[in-house]
Amino acid sequence: MVKEYNVEFRYIRLVQSGPVAQLSFHRPEVLNAFNHDMVRECLHALDQLAPDTRVLVIRGSGDQAFAAGADIKEFQGRTIWSEMDIGPRRELAYRLQKAPFLTLAVVQGYAFGAGFEFALACHLRVVQRGASLSLPETRLGFLPGNGGTVRLTRLVGPGRALRMILMGERIDADTAERWGIANWVFDGEHFERDVAALLDRLVTLSPTATRAAIDSVSHAMDVALEQAIEYEHRWFQICLASPEKTEGVAAFLEKRDAEFERVSPLRARPNDTGDSDR
Ligand code: COA
Repeated sequence: MVKEYNVEFRYIRLVQSGPVAQLSFHRPEVLNAFNHDMVRECLHALDQLAPDTRVLVIRGSGDQAFAAGADIKEFQGRTIWSEMDIGPRRELAYRLQKAPFLTLAVVQGYAFGAGFEFALACHLRVVQRGASLSLPETRLGFLPGNGGTVRLTRLVGPGRALRMILMGERIDADTAERWGIANWVFDGEHFERDVAALLDRLVTLSPTATRAAIDSVSHAMDVALEQAIEYEHRWFQICLASPEKTEGVAAFLEKRDAEFERVSPLRARPNDTGDSDR
């Protein structure tokens, strides 16, 4: 089933194809730079997703840019935090990071500033060879203000993060892969085919094991070793008791592909039993 929501949005496009939803930033005249309304539309779009969404793809319309950052015009004349309306941007990044389904940034062309920050908030990133990634904010006299200094540092370490942030340096797809920013790099020629093949693979993963892995890896970045291992252990228990584990083990022994979707009711995550939210 393909559902399009074109009528509702001005600055984005949202298409739902079965378990895959695709949200595209759509301001081609400014290389998909974010204005306030675009961020609000993205938040609204997240509320529209089908309940059985397994992967949310975030990308730019066209192949010139993922997004060239925040709309620089909106910085003019604004001198205090509240005037920048940063709350919705922050909420959008958190919702991508904490989504119960996979979030995949598909990066073509420029991924600068706020665009790169939203890509960093996604669980996974595919980068097209030829793309250019950068946090150029210090050149404008400020710093990446939506988690860029934090999420990039956690991904690549302070040395590489500072090099990118202080110098406004652009990195290419291969560097992004070497530094652990890009999970996959695909050539331009068969890009859509390769992305589609990846999505076909991602939607067959066990939903519970996927959620467990994402949540547990994310938790590992935040807390002390013992706490992180305890958290992983609780997820492991949830997985062990799941019909998906029964199906996965049976499929292996019967030498067939597992059909996780058929058996999967998504289980509670450890936090749902009273732990602090993540
Ligand atoms: N905000 C507002 N407008 C932007 C923009 C942004 N972040 N990025 C690009 N645009 C606009 C340009 O002003 C230009 O508009 P115009 O045709 O009306 O002049 C249009 O998008 C095309 O950009 P242009 O600079 O002509 O394309 P390019 O291919 O030569 O360069 C970039 C592309 C991304 C290198 C360059 O546009 C750039 O450096 N943009 C700013 C990136 C940035 O600093 N982002 C962080 C913002 S906090």
